[in-house]
Amino acid sequence: MKKTSLILIAICVVSVLTALALSPEKSNQKNEIVLKGTTAIPDSVNVILKKSCFGCHSEGGKKSALFELNLEKWDTYTPKKQAEKAMKMASEMKDGSMPPEGFTKKNPSAAPTKKQISTVSNWAKSLKK
Ligand code: HEC
Repeated sequence: MKKTSLILIAICVVSVLTALALSPEKSNQKNEIVLKGTTAIPDSVNVILKKSCFGCHSEGGKKSALFELNLEKWDTYTPKKQAEKAMKMASEMKDGSMPPEGFTKKNPSAAPTKKQISTVSNWAKSLKK
């Protein structure tokens, strides 16, 4: 066999192995990310946030949005901060500032319904002591 074909075969083997080695890790990471922000937030609220807010307020989202609210770091917020952020989230949703209009225009299905807004609002109130 020619040297070049051996090298080509070697490259193929290495890249397949690399792909195999990397792919499970990647998907695990994804699962972790989904779980991370969720533990302290009830599922009923979390599905709404995932649909309407995660695009910008979770890792890989907008820098300026993350600065205000990083839902993946929710667990690291103190209870006081969680309560404050939750109230702010509910009020931003109620007055229609969040999610931003430009975003819901492009993704109409990501717009929260009235009922979902009140779900978030009730959750926020429940955090306030
Ligand atoms: C298209 C991107 C985008 C989406 C989707 C989005 N946000 Fe934001 N959000 C931002 C940006 C950018 C900022 C920071 C600048 C600002 O306040 O407008 C922000 C700021 C905020 C703030 C802080 C506001 C303040 O003045 O203190 C809250 C609270 C918030 N978002 C909640 C939400 C909630 C709740 C959702 C989902 C219902 C959501 N956001 C969806 C981009 C987004």
